[in-house]
Amino acid sequence: MIEYSGPKKIKTAVFISGTGSNLKNLIKFSKQRNFPISIDLIISNNAKAKGLIYANNFKIKKKVFNFSNKINVEKKILSLLLKNKIQLVCLAGFMKILSKSFIQKFNGKILNIHPSLLPKYKGLNTHARALKNKDKYSGCTVHLVSSKLDSGKIILQKKVKVHKNDTIDTLSRRILKQEHKLYPAAIKKLFN
Ligand code: GRF
Repeated sequence: MIEYSGPKKIKTAVFISGTGSNLKNLIKFSKQRNFPISIDLIISNNAKAKGLIYANNFKIKKKVFNFSNKINVEKKILSLLLKNKIQLVCLAGFMKILSKSFIQKFNGKILNIHPSLLPKYKGLNTHARALKNKDKYSGCTVHLVSSKLDSGKIILQKKVKVHKNDTIDTLSRRILKQEHKLYPAAIKKLFN
């Protein structure tokens, strides 16, 4: 794992597919002097991802990739990461599954945020599943990405109480709020 020592920040790329509220939040934190990472690159599989606006707003380099040929696109992404001297990748609402080989080439340096208390509810529709099972708690997890989906080492988790009258919308909003605290906290934990 990379160690953070001193004022030089860890060059980070954030991968998004949608709204990008976690991206926006990480950018905000990255501006703090003592926060260990800088956001230097934004990558998306979706040209219409709302979050791409933060690339313009904060003058961060962005690149959209078409994932129809995964092997090819991953090669291109890896060389872009190398070219930009990226040391850490943060997945934030990125809806594509990266290949084993990509993850191995970037081993130990990819983080993800997932909206459940892993190992419970890997994959999609986590809030619907928590509600359907009448769980008392749901939450979110920041973990290292390994070649098995949503299964790498857990860095931090936050429990969120499920209310009786919760809908997917209300629960996901409360969890997202916690995600915005958890992701920066996990990065601090890893590198400070
Ligand atoms: C978050 O709930 C994240 O955990 C999940 O997708 C959502 C992305 O939200 N993987 P945003 O794009 O960061 O607003």
